[in-house]
Amino acid sequence: MGLLDGKVAVITGAAGGQGRVACLAFAREGARVVACDLDPAGNEETVVAVRAAGGDITGFGPVDLTDRAAVERFVAAAAARYRGLDIVYNNAGGPRFGPIAEMSIEDWRLTIAVELDSVFLVTRYAWPHLVSRGAGVILNVSSVGGMIGFPEPPMAAHVAAKSAVIGLTRQLAVEGAPHRIRAVSISPGAILSRQGDLDPPAQAAVTGRTLLKRWGRPDEVVEAAVFLASDRASYITGVNLPIEGGVTAW
Ligand SMILES: NC(=O)c1ccc[n+]([C@@H]2O[C@H](COP(=O)([O-])OP(=O)(O)OC[C@H]3O[C@@H](n4cnc5c(N)ncnc54)[C@H](O)[C@@H]3O)[C@@H](O)[C@H]2O)c1
Repeated sequence: MGLLDGKVAVITGAAGGQGRVACLAFAREGARVVACDLDPAGNEETVVAVRAAGGDITGFGPVDLTDRAAVERFVAAAAARYRGLDIVYNNAGGPRFGPIAEMSIEDWRLTIAVELDSVFLVTRYAWPHLVSRGAGVILNVSSVGGMIGFPEPPMAAHVAAKSAVIGLTRQLAVEGAPHRIRAVSISPGAILSRQGDLDPPAQAAVTGRTLLKRWGRPDEVVEAAVFLASDRASYITGVNLPIEGGVTAW
């Protein structure tokens, strides 16, 4: 018996470090996974890896989650593939970092589009499917940057988008409760999948901010996501779970 047996789970950003591990873990737990990414080759690699491990997955790519019509088509195809949806894991992300004094309006808008609009759009089109199912889970990936500011790297747009994801999740929990839809956000700290974004001094600064004095592995985020998406977490909604090695504890 898997924790997610028979559930249909949409996972976005499936070509990425956390998304691929999420697809593998959700399939391992018995979910039928619908994966998408802007990067079709990486998405297909995830599909191949999940099938090689014996999992059930269908991939769609490229899907640009900032494109309203593309998201509408993707969610409709996802729901048709396995006849309905149970779990929406809004994982895709891609921030532009930089100090506020130098941040262009284009970088701001792109970050908000990828990291906030995409969560709204996927959820908006998935919502009727969850309502008609009579239950569901929305799992939104925020960030420790949605909880506190960071001097290095400076990340105004990312902080704004990810803070909004936490607020949006609370509201989805409120509106979802009458339909037995739970909504939860998770806030990773520094995860190895994006370690290469930073130069060595900045990487060391990030490590020093954690209590555990190391970066997190994608599976350390994803295993919490598996639990939160499962019926074992049936009394958990409207909350944000930091998964960040203790960054916000001191
Ligand atoms: N890695 C970290 O340190 C860290 C920290 C906090 C939060 N997060 C969040 O975790 C989530 C997963 O990130 P990751 O670490 O796997 O990074 P990643 O860069 O490896 O994966 C992100 C994926 O999102 C996809 N994507 C980007 N723009 C897209 C678009 N417009 N449409 C569709 N797909 C798009 C990318 O192609 C990529 O495959 C993201 O939401 C990220 O913001 C990551």
